[in-house]
Amino acid sequence: MFCQSSDELNELVIEAKKCVKHGKVADYIPELGKANPNELSIAIYYPNGNCISAGDIERKITLQSISKVISLALVLMDRGTDYVFKHVGMEPTGDPFNSIARLEMMDVAKPLNPMINAGALSVTHMIQGEDVKERLQRLLTLIQTMTNNFEINYNENVAQSEFDTAYLNRSLAYFLKQHRIIDEDIEQLLDLYTKQCAIEMNCLDLARIGLVFAMDGIDPDNGKHILPADVARICKTFMVTCGMYNASGEFAIKIGIPAKSGVSGGIMGAVPGKFGIGIFGPSLDQKGNSIAGIKLLELLSKNYRLSMF
Ligand code: DON
Repeated sequence: MFCQSSDELNELVIEAKKCVKHGKVADYIPELGKANPNELSIAIYYPNGNCISAGDIERKITLQSISKVISLALVLMDRGTDYVFKHVGMEPTGDPFNSIARLEMMDVAKPLNPMINAGALSVTHMIQGEDVKERLQRLLTLIQTMTNNFEINYNENVAQSEFDTAYLNRSLAYFLKQHRIIDEDIEQLLDLYTKQCAIEMNCLDLARIGLVFAMDGIDPDNGKHILPADVARICKTFMVTCGMYNASGEFAIKIGIPAKSGVSGGIMGAVPGKFGIGIFGPSLDQKGNSIAGIKLLELLSKNYRLSMF
């Protein structure tokens, strides 16, 4: 029987919070460096609309890399799988999320997967629309539909802060442009990518996104498909194989649920057929994943046998 009350969840949060001191808030995006490392919150969203939560679930967080799963869903719907996977691969990597090393070692400079920054830049490039404004709005509309929150927008300060300092992402994008994986103006692409990463919401919204993936793309309120089941399946598979970057193998063994993290300290989880999870804990481990968030998922998975394996 899964955790039924917010009180039960609260006890696990208190336990998991003990490890925040072993991590560090991301500060390579200066605006993210302002987060309080001691925070930890979680929301769980069930298909019948019930939610349980612990911690400050009103707190808004930016998606950062969690946005990569949703931009992937959008381009899969826009362009179809054949086109998308001509421009980005399907294989996990043991390299850090922002590594440039592997691109140079491949025959075709195609990024290994859509969850590393090089692959995500290639995916964002594929978002259709007249200009950055329209492309961003199309992504926002999908996210607003998945959360059923039509007020969701991006945080301008966080987007600007990343845009001003994204030298490594610019390097990756220029490399991909040289090899014709990307063919748009790089400043324009970075404008869209940094706004995408700065889309903000609370843990409850995040948990509802997890739930839509968990339910094979179905909106829990009206039973309609927001995403085709096949798109949800592909996204969840990437969450398992690459969602926690070069910690994905360990995460699959210890926790065993499709999940995606971001350097803001967010984690979105989808327990297939059961519920969605949204976590915020900005103290990160060395690989860029929320240290207390992972601990919390480990406790949940062990206590309630959530592993899908
Ligand atoms: O591109 C970046 O570096 C950030 N906007 C997102 C990176 C990220 O969230 C990686 N997460 N673990």
